[in-house]
Amino acid sequence: MSTIRLEQITGSDADLKAALTDAHLSTDDIEDSGRTFFKALSADGQIVGFSGVERCDGDYLLRSVVLHPDRRGTGVGKAVVEVTVASLDPGGAVFLATTSAAPFFGRIGFSEVQRDSVPAAVLATRQLSSICPSSATIMKLIKPPI
Ligand SMILES: CC(C)(COP(=O)(O)OP(=O)(O)OC[C@H]1O[C@@H](n2cnc3c(N)ncnc32)[C@H](O)[C@@H]1OP(=O)(O)O)[C@@H](O)C(=O)NCCC(=O)NCCS
Repeated sequence: MSTIRLEQITGSDADLKAALTDAHLSTDDIEDSGRTFFKALSADGQIVGFSGVERCDGDYLLRSVVLHPDRRGTGVGKAVVEVTVASLDPGGAVFLATTSAAPFFGRIGFSEVQRDSVPAAVLATRQLSSICPSSATIMKLIKPPI
């Protein structure tokens, strides 16, 4: 795994907002309460990307995963997700919604699940209830990252 370190940031972080906007990911709810965001730093202290999580009762929604374009395709995105998931309470299940990156998350151990099997608190997040289209793929971490 690439050596990635996370530093917590707020949803108002300008670099986070720019990275999400450039990747055509929503920024609509990033300043709402209940979200935790991270900047991901390489061993030499460069910002390589971002990630975020929302607590949904005992479970989590992983969101806002974005790599700087020049860092993509070398395993760093996988490392960012793995480090983010490793920072969570292991008792909670981890869900996400994606319109474009299901194959990527599948490589990390997420599997598609049907909406009717997703906890109500996860479905109630703004990401799942309004921001992501109903056609978005909902995934759950089935296999812990290696
Ligand atoms: C999605 C994203 C985070 C992936 O990051 P990355 O650093 O390019 O991905 P990695 O190099 O770590 O890839 C990890 C694995 O997933 C695979 N993978 C990555 N993107 C893939 C894709 N679009 N389709 C299929 N497989 C993919 C890689 O081949 C690699 O497989 P391996 O473990 O067998 O080598 C990055 O492309 C990105 O920031 N995209 C724009 C924002 C975005 O769509 N975020 C997701 C929001 S839900």
